[in-house]
Amino acid sequence: MNRPFDFSAQAREERATDPALLASALALMYDRAIRTGWELDMPCRQEHGGAFLARIAELLQALKQQPTPEEISSWEQSLTTYLAEGAQRDPAPRLAVALELADEMSGLAGGFVLQFSFIPEENPAALLDSGAAPDQLLQVRGVLRLPCLPSFLGEQVRLLGNILRALGQRHLGAEDLEGWRASFAPLLPEWFAQSANACLQVQFASLDPAIGLAGGIDLEVSRIFASIESHYQRWSRTREGPLFGEHPDAMALNVAACLGEAAAAPVLDVGAGTGRNSLALARLGHPVDALELTVVLTEQLDAAVEAEGLPVRVLQGDIFDAELALPPSSYRLVLLSEVIASHFRSVDELRRLLIRACELLAPGGMLLFDVFLADPDFEPSAAAREMSQLYWCWLLTPTELQQALAGLPLVLVADEAVLDYERTHLPPELWPPTRWYVQWTSGRNLFPVVGRPPVERHWLLCRR
Ligand SMILES: C[S@@+](CC[C@H](N)C(=O)[O-])C[C@H]1O[C@@H](n2cnc3c(N)ncnc32)[C@H](O)[C@@H]1O
Repeated sequence: MNRPFDFSAQAREERATDPALLASALALMYDRAIRTGWELDMPCRQEHGGAFLARIAELLQALKQQPTPEEISSWEQSLTTYLAEGAQRDPAPRLAVALELADEMSGLAGGFVLQFSFIPEENPAALLDSGAAPDQLLQVRGVLRLPCLPSFLGEQVRLLGNILRALGQRHLGAEDLEGWRASFAPLLPEWFAQSANACLQVQFASLDPAIGLAGGIDLEVSRIFASIESHYQRWSRTREGPLFGEHPDAMALNVAACLGEAAAAPVLDVGAGTGRNSLALARLGHPVDALELTVVLTEQLDAAVEAEGLPVRVLQGDIFDAELALPPSSYRLVLLSEVIASHFRSVDELRRLLIRACELLAPGGMLLFDVFLADPDFEPSAAAREMSQLYWCWLLTPTELQQALAGLPLVLVADEAVLDYERTHLPPELWPPTRWYVQWTSGRNLFPVVGRPPVERHWLLCRR
């Protein structure tokens, strides 16, 4: 194992250091986190097809898309065909075009797909006015969800302004943007503090449907908030399990192997998830307490423990809950795998966790956890720090780690880059542990760069 804070093992791959490159990587990650969807519709009037398409193209441009000439020509063809068919129907329908993200997980960076369909005309009066301008006939509805990262206030306001201008609101001036900036500025830090995944949601609709876009756009701003539990509940419904991989961490098994007789070395697995580490350690004979916050995951873990009849006590709860029935000074190993890296957000919170671990560890017991550590000479920007929380790879600097440990009865005995360690120690057939593991662990969920990001996941091992 490396000495604490020895980063020499990572010096092999060239590191990405260019601040402009890192900033553009963060900008890309912000775009990937934006969710949006639109529907525009208008009566099937062939003479307005060009104006309709121009609005769609402008809106896509405002949403940072650069459609290719081939894409534009294929939309043009669809539009012409639909308009011709719709114009022949009686009663004539409206033509609706839905703009949907091509890949929900990639946000704006993944592009859009366009879907054409007919919807009934609900405003026949509009059809009588043959002199109406295209914008008077065009309706729009849209939703934009922007992560509440305070450092991206300028980007959020700019995007909103560009969208509204693309929707014909040409009168918007600098003072309008200033107004939004002033109203969002206090909300963002407050909402972001409540949840790293909080979103500012803006809903767009025509102010006066009788005169379409020409009547202006109504904006409704709200906050979208999802708890950690609700994220995992959704994952359990929508993702194929096991959610965090099937096999235990090589580091967890190797540390446990140094504890002596397994039956005499109880383990506390905090944030045990679906139990890949708890189950493996129990199979080796360790008495395991598996603590997990999310109910749906404890249920899966319970079922697995029962099926194998393993010595695992499954506890549902929060490690910070003082009421939890955890025996003090008793565990030979306290393990937190992917927990601090995914869910912690401040040095203070980490320090409280370390204090709690000290209370629970037997003298000489080991604490194993992982964090995303910045390289010693990399000073993360506020944007990078916020983004790391959004993408569940909370980063801290070596100095901050030392602050969290200062004065506690814990000695840092090893510090290993997780990716190198696990790749070297896991059997090749188990590599990579999950589809997302390498990208996340290497720090590329934060800085998707060629070369080594200046932040990566580390195993830290402490002795009580
Ligand atoms: C990314 S998962 C990792 C699961 C497991 N340790 C593994 O590596 O497979 C993080 C887990 O930590 C749990 N968790 C987060 N904060 C917690 C807390 N304060 N107390 C207990 N569990 C927590 C979450 O519910 C989630 O299941």
